[in-house]
Amino acid sequence: MTSIIEKIEKLKKERDAVIVAHYYVNDEVQEIADYIGDSYYLSKIVTTIPQKTIVFAGVSFMGESAKILNPEKTILLPDETADCPMAHMVDTDRIDELRKEYEDLAVVCYINSTAKIKEYADVCVTSSNALKVVKALPNKHILFIPDEHLGRYIASLVPEKEFIFNEGFCHVHTSISRENLEKAIEMRPDAEVLVHPECKLEILELADYIGSTSGIIDYATESDRKEFIICTEMGVFFELNQKNPDKKFYSVGHRQFCPNMKKISLEKIAQCLETMSPTVELNEEQRTASYKPLIRMLELAK
Ligand code: 13P
Ligand code: SF4
Repeated sequence: MTSIIEKIEKLKKERDAVIVAHYYVNDEVQEIADYIGDSYYLSKIVTTIPQKTIVFAGVSFMGESAKILNPEKTILLPDETADCPMAHMVDTDRIDELRKEYEDLAVVCYINSTAKIKEYADVCVTSSNALKVVKALPNKHILFIPDEHLGRYIASLVPEKEFIFNEGFCHVHTSISRENLEKAIEMRPDAEVLVHPECKLEILELADYIGSTSGIIDYATESDRKEFIICTEMGVFFELNQKNPDKKFYSVGHRQFCPNMKKISLEKIAQCLETMSPTVELNEEQRTASYKPLIRMLELAK
């Protein structure tokens, strides 16, 4: 009997396809991915892939970004219901009002946003390039959407600019509580605390390192310490353990689990390659409007 992995490999050749995955998807999906990384890496890598078809193992805004940057390619979503709730948490009427109020406003949009919301932005950012991109902007007033926590963290590092925040959040990262983190630190006093900036300020305050998923993986890999408490989604444990079999990684004691990322399975990858659907479709007007902030991010973050 052909295994699901053999089936996927065969279909990939037939369809001239590659699999691109985020660190939060299931381990078995990370294992077969051709490219794996944080949101910034994934947005760059999709612009260099020669194959005609990209299977995006992640949430829908990631597949949309791949399509915005590569309109000529077929972008397959193994599960189109895998959607990031934060990607929708912006009231676009408020953006219009604030643009009238502040002449020099720059709308800085976290890549965790729908294509529709990106249309309103001057530039996109990811957690690993937000500081560099915001610093490079000439504007004094920054409206940071949709994630309030990442916005506040970046604002703390750029005191010369005035930030306006939006009440968006990631339910996975904000569910990590100070109380649980303090308990984890008490139990593992030698561990370093590695935190994603989508977490609340009370968590960031206890961090030894704050960074994106790739940043967390690289920091742990380069560190001399042997134990780490990880404050982000549990999917990163796969790469952390692969790269560091001699080190120990602990969660904060409850499920740091993104239900949408976990919808991506090997079966769904095989199925989307077989049927060549669902694909990401955007009308050209919307695509070009959301292309501008994404390409500006790639230029400013270089
Ligand atoms: P990064 O991979 O850029 O750290 O993003 C984390 C995230 O929440 C993606 O949904
Ligand atoms: Fe969205 Fe949070 Fe899941 Fe990332 S981890 S996809 S920000 S809900």
